[in-house]
Amino acid sequence: MRHLMSPLDFTTAELDKLFDLANDIENNKEKYAHACDEKKLATCFYEPSTRTRLSFESAMMSLGGKVLGFSDAACSSAAKGESVSDTIRMISCYADICAMRHPKEGAPMVASTKSRIPVINAGDGGHQHPTQTLTDLLTIRSLKGRLNNFTIGLCGDLKFGRTVHSLINALSRYDNIKFIFVSPEELRIPEYIIDNLKEMNIPFEEVISLEEVMPKLDLLYMTRVQRERFFNEEDYVRLKDFYVLNKEKMALAKDDMLVLHPLPRVNEISVEVDDDPRAVYFKQVQYGVYVRMALILTLLEIDTSKL
Ligand code: NCD
Repeated sequence: MRHLMSPLDFTTAELDKLFDLANDIENNKEKYAHACDEKKLATCFYEPSTRTRLSFESAMMSLGGKVLGFSDAACSSAAKGESVSDTIRMISCYADICAMRHPKEGAPMVASTKSRIPVINAGDGGHQHPTQTLTDLLTIRSLKGRLNNFTIGLCGDLKFGRTVHSLINALSRYDNIKFIFVSPEELRIPEYIIDNLKEMNIPFEEVISLEEVMPKLDLLYMTRVQRERFFNEEDYVRLKDFYVLNKEKMALAKDDMLVLHPLPRVNEISVEVDDDPRAVYFKQVQYGVYVRMALILTLLEIDTSKL
C-alpha cells in the first residue's frame, strides 16, 4: 500500500504516468465516471481549506465514489483529545482512502504509519503540500509541454508557504531549472532549502525586487503572505502588500510567461491581471481536480486499462 506524503514519493517516471492519466481524464471524463463506484474517500481536515478539500471531494465524486469527513478540528474527536493515530485507525474502517490536512508538520505521516488505507498529505503546517505540487506540475506540463528548461520566479511568502517548499523540491529533479526567489528579507526561503540547492548544484538567486527579474522569467509562482503562521499581526500588516502583480509589471514579462498561484489570493495579484492570457491560476484549479482523480485511481490501484 502506498501513501503520498511528499512530491518526491513518486519518481519522475511515475509522475509522468500520473500526468498522462490526468490528461486522459481531462479528455475522456465519461470513461472514468464509475471507476470508484464502490469506494469512499475520507477528508480529515484539521485546518481551514476550501479549494483542496472541495477539489478532493469533486475528484472522488467525478469517479463515482462517495465522500465523508470533517472540515474543522473543533467538530471532530480531536476536540476531545483523540490522537491522529487513533483517528486514522477508525477512519480505516469507514473509508478506502483518506486525505488529511493538519496544522502540525508530520501529522499525516504519523497517521500513515497506523493506517490500513492510503493516506494523502493534503498540507501539513508550513511543511509540504504535495497535491498542490502535483497540480502545479500538471498545469505547467499541460500548458508548456515540458517540465525542464525553465527559469521560475517564486514570489511572496517563501518562508511559510508550504506550496513553495514542495514545488522547489519537485522541480529540482528536472534538468536546467533555475530558481529566482523574490521575497522581503523577513520572508526569505528557509536555509535548509538553500543548502539543498547548493548541494545539488541547482542555480538560484534571491532578490527583493520583482520588477527587476520579471523579463527573465518563464514561470512566475505568486503566493499570499501566510497570516495564520505569523507570530504577530503587526508584522503581517507590514508585509502583506509587499508585492502586488499588476498590468504594469506584467508588461515587463515575456509574452509566453505563465503566472501561477495556489490560491487563495489576497492582494498579491490585482484582479486586472485575471484577463491576461498568461494568468493561468484558475485553470490550475481545474487541473487540480484531474490530478487528484488520477492520484486516487493510482493509490487505490484501480486498473484503468479495463475502463
Ligand atoms: C495553499 C495552502 O493551503 O497551503 N492553498 C491551497 O491549498 N491551494 C496556499 C495558501 O493557503 O496560501
